[in-house]
Amino acid sequence: MYPREIIEEVRSANDIADVIGSYVPLKKRGGSYFGLCPFHNEKTPSFSVLSDRQMYHCFGCGAGGNVISFIMQIENYDFIDALKYLADRVHFMLPAKQNPGYDKQLRERDILRKIHKDAAYFYCNCLSSEEGFAVQQYLSNRGIVLRKRFGLGYSRDKWDGVYKELTSKGYKREDLLKSGLIIKNKERYYDRFRNRLMFPIMDIDAHVVGFGGRVLGEGEPKYLNSPETKLFNKSRQLYGIHAARKARIKEIILVEGYMDVLSLHQAGFPQTVGVLGTALTPEHSRLLKKINCESVIIFFDRDAAGIKATLRAIPVLLEAGFKVKCLQVTEDVKDPDEYLQKYGNLHFKALLENALSNYVFRINLLADEHDLKNTEGRISFTQEAAVIIAGIENAIEAEVIVMETSALSGISAEAIYKEVEKLRSPLYTNMQAPRDRRLAQRRNVNGEKGVTDARKGILSILFENPLIALKIKEYLSPEEMGGGLAAELLDIAYKNGENNISQSPANVITLFETIEEQKEAAELLRENFIYDNKTALEKALNEMWRITKKAALNESLAKTEESGEIDLRRVQNLGMAIRDLEKTYITV
Ligand code: GTP
Ligand code: MN
Repeated sequence: MYPREIIEEVRSANDIADVIGSYVPLKKRGGSYFGLCPFHNEKTPSFSVLSDRQMYHCFGCGAGGNVISFIMQIENYDFIDALKYLADRVHFMLPAKQNPGYDKQLRERDILRKIHKDAAYFYCNCLSSEEGFAVQQYLSNRGIVLRKRFGLGYSRDKWDGVYKELTSKGYKREDLLKSGLIIKNKERYYDRFRNRLMFPIMDIDAHVVGFGGRVLGEGEPKYLNSPETKLFNKSRQLYGIHAARKARIKEIILVEGYMDVLSLHQAGFPQTVGVLGTALTPEHSRLLKKINCESVIIFFDRDAAGIKATLRAIPVLLEAGFKVKCLQVTEDVKDPDEYLQKYGNLHFKALLENALSNYVFRINLLADEHDLKNTEGRISFTQEAAVIIAGIENAIEAEVIVMETSALSGISAEAIYKEVEKLRSPLYTNMQAPRDRRLAQRRNVNGEKGVTDARKGILSILFENPLIALKIKEYLSPEEMGGGLAAELLDIAYKNGENNISQSPANVITLFETIEEQKEAAELLRENFIYDNKTALEKALNEMWRITKKAALNESLAKTEESGEIDLRRVQNLGMAIRDLEKTYITV
């Protein structure tokens, strides 16, 4: 990572309105600019660029951050690449050690793209040639006619097929090695892919970035994929994304295999993309956001590995804000491709329309895992179901799932609700894993507008006024901020206070490297709070203090009452503490 001062220098040298203005037409209104959000589909502008704060924010989809976040988000770059891009833009030389030359990198990427394009053409031609006849046969046996849209090809049964082709085009050996298409062993260069059906993997802009090669018939490995290269990282690519983007459908079908993507596109479901034999990542989610996806239907293979992958993908997608559904198919089909072969398009369409909410899907799986005929099984089923239900934000949806759980277990809805409430209480969430806790606490506190505003106010003020941070410290601990980034930010603000450092909000955002965290930080620091006098700060602090303290007192009051042995004095004391709280006003 680069030193903070360097990051800050690059960031502040790139005016946010200039940079964003080159991507999005912006209109000036007061101190800000407005335009159509590039991150979601909209007809009326809700995307704003705040010149004075050097931040952007979309009131529609919640996107937000500083100029580095914007480049990360729009170019799908990681932090370093975005920084390099912006440094380059203002002719800023990043320190030599970390900067192997951005130009060089761009050139390298261009060459790799050309190599892949030429290779894809070559494989394509081989498929159409006489030598490719068996593969053509193989495809038609499997009912695949969509050769063109996906650029399918054939790598011949030779050691130097694509190698000869590419060297004849003048590419250097070292570049061919970097592409992953050619392998070197003891001074011999040879083709990675031989005698395979070739699937070019295209990025969102339809550049070929890698290949998957399927063995013809039986053999190991069934699929051979390009290795990780400067162009290709399978945690960031989805097979078929270039075609799904054109479909402009907000509900995406997510499958596992190359063949599944082909079959579905061919059957009239072009909104299908495939994970390339890997776990779904937040980067995949970001890619889906880029094509304006709102909801995802997962249809992985029906085996244990597929179900496990489904269960792991659900939280990743939920966290990215997608609606998530799952398909439940009978066990006589292995994957979507087989389903289509066996039952046809119409059935598939019906299957999609009846997709289950991911919650129902998970509860059904739990029900299969437990013996609901015996008491123990029913209890553990219900307890595990409650954990799932506690994560449902929509009350109506939660109610539906509670009823379902109750029907399956024979346990009353009231009892299930009680269990769910227990899981949702702050005391319990404190005991969970840090990440879960962060999410849960954020959810609890986000719900209350008073606290949210107060948090934002306090953070905005403290970052720019380190001396005030020192004073506030005794009244408010990071834990009382409600977890998540708010707590982390308060902690940082206090450290700044000790060192008398003030930081602009746009600067603070780049303390975080992922776009998700930057967005959250931007949300907390977005608004301009006026604090030329102490009043605003005191108001925010008191609000925050009152609400969190009161919640804690109420919690112990409830606990005391619940425990059965009512200790009258303790209850009275707590009640009094709450009343006192109402009367207290902290001044700084
Ligand atoms: P068909 O058997 O031709 O229908 O292929 P499929 O697309 O149904 O593949 P399968 O369900 O067996 O595997 C799903 C995905 O996992 C594939 O599309 C590949 O991306 C990946 N995969 C499968 N087998 C291998 C393998 O041997 N090596 C690697 N690296 N990936 C594999
Ligand atoms: Mn298959």
